Amino acid sequence: MTADSSASDLVQKTTTPPTDWDEMPDPEKLLYQGSEPPPIVGMDNIFPLEWYTKTPKLEEIYEKSRDPGWSPHLLPWDTLNPEEFTQDQRYAIAYWFALLSVFDASGPAVFARAFIHTYEKHEESPLRKCFFSVVRDEHAHEEVCERAIQSMVPNGPLNFEPETPLGHLARHNIKWFYYNGGRYWDGYKRAVDKYPLPILFTSFLFGEVASSTLFKSMEERTSIPVFKEAFRRIAQDEARHRAICMFVLKRLLPNLSQEDKDTITRQIRAGFIFLSGILYEPPTEAFWELPDVFFPSHRILEEEARTAGLGVLSLQERRENWREAVLKLKSVIEPYDIRFPALPEIDVDGETVTFDANEEFVAVF
Ligand SMILES: [Fe+2]
Ligand SMILES: [Fe+2]
Repeated sequence: MTADSSASDLVQKTTTPPTDWDEMPDPEKLLYQGSEPPPIVGMDNIFPLEWYTKTPKLEEIYEKSRDPGWSPHLLPWDTLNPEEFTQDQRYAIAYWFALLSVFDASGPAVFARAFIHTYEKHEESPLRKCFFSVVRDEHAHEEVCERAIQSMVPNGPLNFEPETPLGHLARHNIKWFYYNGGRYWDGYKRAVDKYPLPILFTSFLFGEVASSTLFKSMEERTSIPVFKEAFRRIAQDEARHRAICMFVLKRLLPNLSQEDKDTITRQIRAGFIFLSGILYEPPTEAFWELPDVFFPSHRILEEEARTAGLGVLSLQERRENWREAVLKLKSVIEPYDIRFPALPEIDVDGETVTFDANEEFVAVF
């Protein structure tokens, strides 16, 4: 058989592939054959697939936050020499950062949950972006605590063997404080789904007002260079977080039901009790479960950290600072006819509300 004849045989056997159209498909005809997919049920579909903007200011804040301008690992840690402090001073500094960690180490998880919530609720694109930046920032703040504690007390704040009575008291108090911090996570997770955004954001704002106040005052006071720089940077981040909450609330607060307003009043009381744990002293009411020995030990440890130059304010100064921060929050929400709770601990008048620790509450820092 010649090459020609075998090629001819093969040609006889060829067929047309199914995709070889004899005419081009008509888009209009195809459209008639289309149908809508089944509806997506429930509001908790996490994929927004839309990028709308309601609050242009949030875009601006997010653009500024893309580069926070600092990173925990680039702080001047090499200027921190633990040998320059006594053993008790080291315990006391690590102690203060450990208490802070009860708030700051929950920050990334708390805001990550809120970040997911902005997706579930298909919030505007710049708000989702802003929360993304808050999670990152809070993680940086947690890392500062980690580095400070590890520099002062390796394996602290729990897994170290104290060598002095003050070291023992520090570990004792940290365990109790940590026990309390762990108790609010379940309530928080439920609260995120339960409450509308204005209630969540008022609580977020309270946390940001508190933290920016705390870090700004510590930056002014501390004489330890690496902590001065850390507090300065963290205070800047917190001021940005505060601005995010403020811009969202300006949009949300004018349209509240009376029920929402009453919930906000109670949530502010709850936030005050929780945040006083670091801004002032943990109130022995409702939420905080602490043994009597906690308080005198706490004062000795704070005094020790103060003499080491950490910049811990005196109780009286903290009270004044906390009061000022709370009054700032009061001035934000009162124009919207939201009653402010009485906070007799720091001489702030208002509505007497009881804080029920079993109620879901939104405590963030
Ligand atoms: Fe923070
Ligand atoms: Fe924050």
